[in-house]
Amino acid sequence: MLSIEDILENLAEGVVAIDLDMDVRVFNQSAEKITETSRSVAIGRPLKDLFRSDLRVVEILEKTLKEGRLFAEYEVKLHRKFSGEVPVVITTSQVFDVEGVLSGAAALIKDLSGIKSIEEGSLRKERLAYIGAFASNLAHEIKNPLTGIRGAAQLLTRRVKDSGLKEYTSVIMSEADRLNAILNDLLDFARPAALNRKSVNIHMVLDSVILLLQEGAEDGGPAPRFIKEYDPSLPPVYGDGHQLTQVFLNLIKNAQEALSEGGDVQVLTRMITEFHLVEAGSTGGKMAAVEIRDNGCGIKGEDLENIFTPFFTTKPKGSGLGMAISLKIVKEHGGLLKIDSAPGKGTAVAVYLPIAEKEG
Ligand SMILES: Nc1ncnc2c1ncn2[C@@H]1O[C@H](COP(=O)(O)OP(=O)(O)OP(=O)(O)O)[C@@H](O)[C@H]1O
Ligand SMILES: [Mg+2]
Repeated sequence: MLSIEDILENLAEGVVAIDLDMDVRVFNQSAEKITETSRSVAIGRPLKDLFRSDLRVVEILEKTLKEGRLFAEYEVKLHRKFSGEVPVVITTSQVFDVEGVLSGAAALIKDLSGIKSIEEGSLRKERLAYIGAFASNLAHEIKNPLTGIRGAAQLLTRRVKDSGLKEYTSVIMSEADRLNAILNDLLDFARPAALNRKSVNIHMVLDSVILLLQEGAEDGGPAPRFIKEYDPSLPPVYGDGHQLTQVFLNLIKNAQEALSEGGDVQVLTRMITEFHLVEAGSTGGKMAAVEIRDNGCGIKGEDLENIFTPFFTTKPKGSGLGMAISLKIVKEHGGLLKIDSAPGKGTAVAVYLPIAEKEG
């Protein structure tokens, strides 16, 4: 049976109603959530007591009750008990009983925090698009003279006999190459290639990345240990193999760079069917999870919020584009990227990617 009480309880909006003495008589579940006040505390209490720090609410309900003034979509910030302010809109009305006699007033309170963060999100996107366009123009402008510098250094190397001077020209060339690589990364980030999606065996992608990094380490510092824990039954994902290689190269390289001697990098895969993840991804259905865990230096709390920002780096020779590019590619795949890190303990990065549909 459908009852008014049940409907009231299940409304997403908070409902607060007062009687003629301005004591609270109705306080539904959403009102509890928005104000972080339990109903047992609220019911029977004077409204003035309950909204001590939000006298605007008391005022508009009083005006509604006593003067018949109705408020529609009135925007205020409520002070919650534990988690600070919350933006809400309030709509009020008088309440009459069956005989038509005024018996109180009610307020409908809508939580805007979700909506606000979406608004801020789209603003952020616009800003990023602007910065992206700006950066790619800049990158182009720099690349041309850079080619000139490198070419001139190369000519100079041939002419110079003095090996001491040759050292300088080779520094110019190698630094020019490094700068050029950064600019290419930046261009990738600002104008990524369109996705060319197919069924991709993610284990092959991971193996090729690990092989590449192992070879690179042979002529460098100590080789880290890579521990693979693959779920052999994992079906292929639906993605762009080339771009996914880039993602895992960035992530596994970061893990490797975070290690000190004796550390290792674990690469795990598994299938995910958890509802909240599936729903959060834009494609629905099952997801493949790839997790990269290291027991390296970890990421400080204040850095964690910046690691996806282009050019944020804590490394002397880092460009700070790896994470930004990876996140962008994963998102374009309708996937998710999660990161969990504790300074001194290590970092776990999880990438969730949509599974390819069965052929046919
Ligand atoms: N696994 C990790 N362990 C510790 N810190 C990490 C890890 N992954 C990322 N970070 C932090 O995030 C920062 C940004 O990473 P990102 O890959 O974007 O750039 P980078 O590694 O510094 O440079 P690039 O990848 O361009 O060479 C790093 O400088 C580092 O501080
Ligand atoms: Mg990196």
